[in-house]
Amino acid sequence: METTWSHATVLLNEAVDALFKQGEEPYPGAAEGSYVDATFGRGGHARLILSRLAPGGRLTAFDKDPLAVAEAARISDPRFSIRHQGFAHLGELPAGSVTGLLMDLGVSSPQIDDPARGFSFRNNGPLDMRMDTTRGESVSEWLATAELNQITEVIREYGEERFAGPIAKAIVARRQERGPISTTGELAQLVAEQVKTREPGKDPATRTFQAFRIFINAELEELQQALAASLSVLQGGGRLAVISFHSLEDRIVKQFIARHAREEYDRRAPFAAPKVMQLRALGRIKPSDEEVQANPRARSAILRVAQRMAA
Ligand SMILES: C[S@@+](CC[C@H](N)C(=O)[O-])C[C@H]1O[C@@H](n2cnc3c(N)ncnc32)[C@H](O)[C@@H]1O
Repeated sequence: METTWSHATVLLNEAVDALFKQGEEPYPGAAEGSYVDATFGRGGHARLILSRLAPGGRLTAFDKDPLAVAEAARISDPRFSIRHQGFAHLGELPAGSVTGLLMDLGVSSPQIDDPARGFSFRNNGPLDMRMDTTRGESVSEWLATAELNQITEVIREYGEERFAGPIAKAIVARRQERGPISTTGELAQLVAEQVKTREPGKDPATRTFQAFRIFINAELEELQQALAASLSVLQGGGRLAVISFHSLEDRIVKQFIARHAREEYDRRAPFAAPKVMQLRALGRIKPSDEEVQANPRARSAILRVAQRMAA
């Protein structure tokens, strides 16, 4: 399927280098390894990974979005396969089978730019926001019946929005008066009326849209599940590289790596051997000034890299 929307890949070389090289030196056997791109998108990282693989290497990709999967189907390479699944299914891969795992979190530019997907507060479209349009509830359907408390909590937790209470009340009042909100334009306007302060360069609907997107796609839960599964699917010495775009995601990734990168003592058994470290933290990389200038969506990106310790 041909789409007109394109995605400028963030931290392209940095993320792929993190999987294949330590400094300037390739990891031994890196080109023959089995890699996972958990967020195919439009395949920017995936194509670079494939270009670095020897004939015996493999790349398995995941994406929830049927349009991303259709794009992946255009890659005809026997070393490549795509799964139309959330990356929470990562744990279904054989234990110890993965040499390198990449996660480039969040939404792709085609998802945001196409008003029909319902992610955009700038361009009016149906209030959907599902990455996987083949299943689950749209934001409009959820808001039609959700309790006031739940709407407030979602906006507060996932949007870190001060005006969560008034926004949620306005959504419920509006639904009682005129029926559920069905378009992004209606939601953006309603939110703007409730947000009493303005952040420079930021649309007043940004936080609420982020919150609903995270909630409707269960983004943080799936991230937690995939990170936990990475410990079983990565082989000893295998690499984990995660790019996040906001502080809620980055906090989860940072804490996960920190938690598994230290020896743990059992307080109830102080003389027992400590639980061994499962990961070694290899650092944090941010996009260069040149990349941010060329692609403003790279502005908030943070890449964290870790290595699975041998069992
Ligand atoms: C930032 S884009 C990835 C872009 C890609 N690295 C590229 O260079 O084209 C994120 C992609 O991950 C997908 N995605 C987000 N959460 C997902 C999840 N839990 N499971 C599978 N795919 C997910 C989205 O549908 C989107 O296509």
